[in-house]
Amino acid sequence: MLPAYLPNPVAALFGGGTPIDLGRNFPDGKRVFGDGKTFRGLIMGIFAGIGIGLAQIWVSGAYGWENLPEHTYMSITLLATGALLGDLGKSFFKRRLGKERGAKWPIADMYDLVAGAVLLVLVVDPGWFFANMTLVIFIIILILTPILHRAVNIIGYRFRVKEVPW
Ligand code: CTP
Ligand code: MG
Repeated sequence: MLPAYLPNPVAALFGGGTPIDLGRNFPDGKRVFGDGKTFRGLIMGIFAGIGIGLAQIWVSGAYGWENLPEHTYMSITLLATGALLGDLGKSFFKRRLGKERGAKWPIADMYDLVAGAVLLVLVVDPGWFFANMTLVIFIIILILTPILHRAVNIIGYRFRVKEVPW
């Protein structure tokens, strides 16, 4: 899951600049995504996720760690891209509910990246999905995600990368 987990913190570290919605509003009068979703965050995040995935592929090849999931160039790209598309989709619905940028939306803020990553892999590369995403792995992801999410966001808040600790 590293290719899915890394894009969010990297977007928080290196994001900023032009927002993906170009500052535009949806017909409901609220922003489409908001200032927290930028092109730079999206692109840097996806590249970081692919980068760590490449490292995983290289490590498993070099050391023969056969118990690690078999990543492919496709799977790491889909996980990284899906994670930030899930984040983007979450912000779309968050704005529709009238929640401001950075407002708390407990379950959605944690699982958006998992939903996005898992769904994109399922749709585009079902072969990889069913070979690697077993029920046990999925349950581990569901347990691990909120813990990592909370820990990383508290660190980000302490170092003033994030404006809120969630
Ligand atoms: N970020 C970015 N581009 C993205 C995603 C994130 O630049 N595609 C950066 C933004 O600086 C954002 C920070 O990462 O403020 C933290 O991301 P997140 O918590 O997802 O955004 P929020 O600011 O909380 O906005 P939202 O309410 O829409 O979730
Ligand atoms: Mg947020």
